[in-house]
Amino acid sequence: TVTGAGGGVEPERPTFDQPLVVPPTERGADIRLVMKRARVRTLPEGRRTSMWTFDGTYPGPTIRRRGGQGTRVTVVNHLPKGAGSTSTHLHGDHHAAKDDGQPTTQLVRRGDSRTYDYPLTVDGRATPGSFFWYHDHRMDRTARNNWRGLQGMFIVTDPPMPGVRLPSGSRDVPLMISERSFTSGNQLTDPFADGPEMVHGAGHDEMSWSGDLAPPNDATVGDTVLVNGRAAPYLDVSATRYRLRLLNSSPFSSYNLTLSDGRPILQIGTGSGLLPRAVVRSSILLGPAQRADVIVDFSGATGKRIVLESVPAAIGSTGDDARQTAVMELRVGARASDPSRLPSRLPSPGLVSPVPTEVAKTWTFGLDDGGDHGSAWTINGDPFDPTRVDHRARLGAVERWRFRNTSDVTHYVHIHAEQWRTLLRDGKAPPPWERGLEDTWRLEPGEVVEVAARFTDYTGPFMIHCHMLDHEDHGMMSRFDVVP
Ligand code: C2O
Ligand code: CU
Repeated sequence: TVTGAGGGVEPERPTFDQPLVVPPTERGADIRLVMKRARVRTLPEGRRTSMWTFDGTYPGPTIRRRGGQGTRVTVVNHLPKGAGSTSTHLHGDHHAAKDDGQPTTQLVRRGDSRTYDYPLTVDGRATPGSFFWYHDHRMDRTARNNWRGLQGMFIVTDPPMPGVRLPSGSRDVPLMISERSFTSGNQLTDPFADGPEMVHGAGHDEMSWSGDLAPPNDATVGDTVLVNGRAAPYLDVSATRYRLRLLNSSPFSSYNLTLSDGRPILQIGTGSGLLPRAVVRSSILLGPAQRADVIVDFSGATGKRIVLESVPAAIGSTGDDARQTAVMELRVGARASDPSRLPSRLPSPGLVSPVPTEVAKTWTFGLDDGGDHGSAWTINGDPFDPTRVDHRARLGAVERWRFRNTSDVTHYVHIHAEQWRTLLRDGKAPPPWERGLEDTWRLEPGEVVEVAARFTDYTGPFMIHCHMLDHEDHGMMSRFDVVP
């Protein structure tokens, strides 16, 4: 059964007949990733799927490095003809503008390579344990290139934390959740092609868009949810605690993740470091590019099969609410010894303080109904222009920024360069799970969010944009510069 985002159809549970695969790990200081076409197993039966990969796997290798361990990643573009040039961005990380994977000015052409430097420090201090991800950021092609497979995970391992021992090794599982649609021959559909097929297969026909302001592929959804590249996988777990690092790398859809037996999910981090306190959640809503670092305790569940699933979020009524779908199955085996230790107060990274009371910049996410199709999404009334500097922030300064959403759909606002503290959500203190560092926020219609950060280390151009990849490709992006 196909359910589009916000669809009300009760999906059938899949049978979960393939094991979850954890992507290969890279731990070196010098990492080389060749972008190339490869045939990868996505669906349990039939042919493999031809995808564009980092190094032959989807997701690409998971990079694991300690904070402060400088890391150089060289990306080589050996994609097939027609793929064009690419740009690789490490989402969430703090690095120089030249290493940011700029969407228009740092393109890596076919046959070329580029080396990105990631010091994994902020203001001279090691980046706290975090869950970043790398993905293509080529302007106008980001949705297509991510759909084809140019995505991978990057874990900054935890610094020593007295009194805390989080589940590790095979009990620390990164999960990239991302949806696609397939042809009957197990190949990816092409929602980005012009022509009549684009309406089928990718579920666009289920989206309700007012009028013809937006082109059909303005909301790329898929009918099949992949976890680490595989549809409906299962994972054998022991009856102990696990650390799950959840990432939604879908182009457009949101997931409101919950466990089918009502088991609590203990959120310990945002993806950019630990929260000050662990928060018990019954469900976790993740929009595109959002992450959550969580602990699930399977003790007492031996013999059970628990489904990680997405349920309607019961908020917003904008047609881009969370999907209703099964995601994966956890098969709980025997008890085992569990050395993990988890106090309720966590050693979280420091938040910028004090924060200015004055707002230095307001970013308004809107729909320009005068625009011709494809360029209807705007920030402060303008579609993206890489030569226009929409804000200048001084290096060393702390700034307070405000986002507003004047359109009638939810957006997911992402800022490059720094890690931010959330100050206010609709005039109120943010919920406990939004009290760590953040780089991507849900912004519902009419909502106002205020954030603050200090600009450290790097000058140059950086981006702020909606992380719904079609919105981003269609202009909902702005450039700001950090200046000396
Ligand atoms: Cu994850 Cu500017 O992107
Ligand atoms: Cu958007």
